[in-house]
Amino acid sequence: MSITSCTNCASVDNSWYSWYNGVMNALDVRSEFPMLEPGSERRIGTDDAKLVYLDSAATALKPKCVIAQELDFYSHNTGSAGRGAHTLTNEAGEAIERARRKLVDFALSSDVADVEKEKWTAVFTSGATMGLNMLSLMFLLGSLNSDENKTSRFQLDDKCNIILSRAEHHSNIVPWQQVSKITGAQIRYLDLLNSGELDLEQLNKLVDENTKVLSISHASNVTGVVHEVDKITAHLDKFTAGSSRPIVILDACQSAPHIPLELDIRGVDFAVVSAHKVYGPSGVGAVLGQKDAFLDAPVVMSGGGMVEQVDDFTTTFQALPNKYEPGSFATAQILAFAAALDFVSKIGFADIRTHEKNLTSKLLEVRNISSVRILGDGVLLDNRLGLVAFELAGVHPHDLGNYLDELGIAVRVGHHCAQLVHRRFGVQSSTRASLGIYNTTDDVDALISGIESAKRFFGV
Ligand SMILES: Cc1ncc(COP(=O)(O)O)c(C=O)c1O
Repeated sequence: MSITSCTNCASVDNSWYSWYNGVMNALDVRSEFPMLEPGSERRIGTDDAKLVYLDSAATALKPKCVIAQELDFYSHNTGSAGRGAHTLTNEAGEAIERARRKLVDFALSSDVADVEKEKWTAVFTSGATMGLNMLSLMFLLGSLNSDENKTSRFQLDDKCNIILSRAEHHSNIVPWQQVSKITGAQIRYLDLLNSGELDLEQLNKLVDENTKVLSISHASNVTGVVHEVDKITAHLDKFTAGSSRPIVILDACQSAPHIPLELDIRGVDFAVVSAHKVYGPSGVGAVLGQKDAFLDAPVVMSGGGMVEQVDDFTTTFQALPNKYEPGSFATAQILAFAAALDFVSKIGFADIRTHEKNLTSKLLEVRNISSVRILGDGVLLDNRLGLVAFELAGVHPHDLGNYLDELGIAVRVGHHCAQLVHRRFGVQSSTRASLGIYNTTDDVDALISGIESAKRFFGV
């Protein structure tokens, strides 16, 4: 791919579109990813084997258009967005606003009416973890007994409760524990069924009039189960009304690369995403939210950029969303995030889903290997993403991971920042294989024969 010099900061050569003719072909897609590009692909392991990348749930590989976009910003368009009045700062600021609109479009239903779309915004953060910290800290500050906070929905005390699930990533548990410690609010967990699904029956006893927050993942990074968010929010709607409805937060890190988020029809107030999981760069993510939900949300991080007027002892803030974006923007990363969203949108979730579902049914064949147990293996293909975390009895996941690495196969081992799920399934850690749009049946075959080979090597 060549990089054109550009005058509006967001246009790199989109010639990669030319390979895409409406039918996704993973082999064509692979050539868009330098780490996989036939002929120059990355090699790892003792025999310098071609990379079999099965760790997209940790971080996805980057297509050329994303890399080119970052390079373009640094090569031709560097400017501090929103600071000053020269051409480069103006262009960078405008490009960020285009990226913001793109992200909102990406996160809502494709047929959403303009008036509905207008109700949403995105606040750029350094990632999903930072987004969840920002939201939880809003509750912490909102709980201070000040005049400003009297009517805020972001208030917790020792009578309140916060609902999470045991399927959550630590990023959606630990910040709430910190808040709970200080405010006294109780954390309540939705448990998992053996299938890996959330036990929604429990909502009847967990949700009450003191529930102020429900923060839940759209899909688990361990079981791959896509949670029934609509049923959960419908339950809240039945139970509560108007301003007493708890604030609902969706951790969409795992779902965003694979299925449409359609936040406008999920009944959520906020959602968090990380660009690096969606084929974008690291160091950037966002809190997407309904503008109304932000109305009485305290500013928890402050500094330059987000202010209107600073006096000796007081400051007035800019309007949403900038008021929650202190400091300089990660401009190159935000623009590359937008390029990644373009890349995914151009292929489209219909093709992505078809491809990944086919591969997932093959991936699930690991369950046929004796001594393998998948964590949460009872969910229909329609309701799960392309990832499996499993234990191989008698082999520590780190040993299996090292063995597969020598064969050129990159999988994740450990607890994947989700110790509660592992404890639920009676293990401390597991091996996880996760798919992206570039994977092929050859990759899954390599994994299956790699596990068989590991079994022989370790004598299990
Ligand atoms: C479900 C889920 N939530 C949150 C995160 C945290 O994302 P980040 O580390 O990019 O902030 C991850 C990352 O693995 C995740 O899988």
